[in-house]
Amino acid sequence: MGGQNPYIKEAQTELPAQRYTLTVIDEQKREHRVEVDPARIPYGDHGLPGSILDICMAHGIELDHACGGVCACSTCHVVVRRGLEACNECTDDEADQLDEAYGLTAQSRLGCQCVPNGRQDVVVEIPTWNRNLAREAH
Ligand code: FES
Repeated sequence: MGGQNPYIKEAQTELPAQRYTLTVIDEQKREHRVEVDPARIPYGDHGLPGSILDICMAHGIELDHACGGVCACSTCHVVVRRGLEACNECTDDEADQLDEAYGLTAQSRLGCQCVPNGRQDVVVEIPTWNRNLAREAH
């Protein structure tokens, strides 16, 4: 599943014009470095094109996304440790979903809605409490 949520206002994004590095720190504190190639955006169909989720999915980095990346849950919660100013603005709809996220911080974003513009490298951390317990239980 993926694509656009017809019930929310479309987020304004600026896609990168040059390569940049996205570093994702996962729940086990492992670092995954991806060189984002603007020519390959969108990588897939999860989340906004060029979003953290879009990039993670294409590079085998696990980021929960229960709603498929349409801003209708908060399981893709990430904390942007560096480069937040190079990301699109958080919309009211995203902020509403983020309110449901455990451990919300001022740097929190939804991975499916957060689109870096490539003007600087970005570091995001996936909080350990993001873990989808239903999925982990089996
Ligand atoms: S995957 Fe549901 S809001 Fe991002």
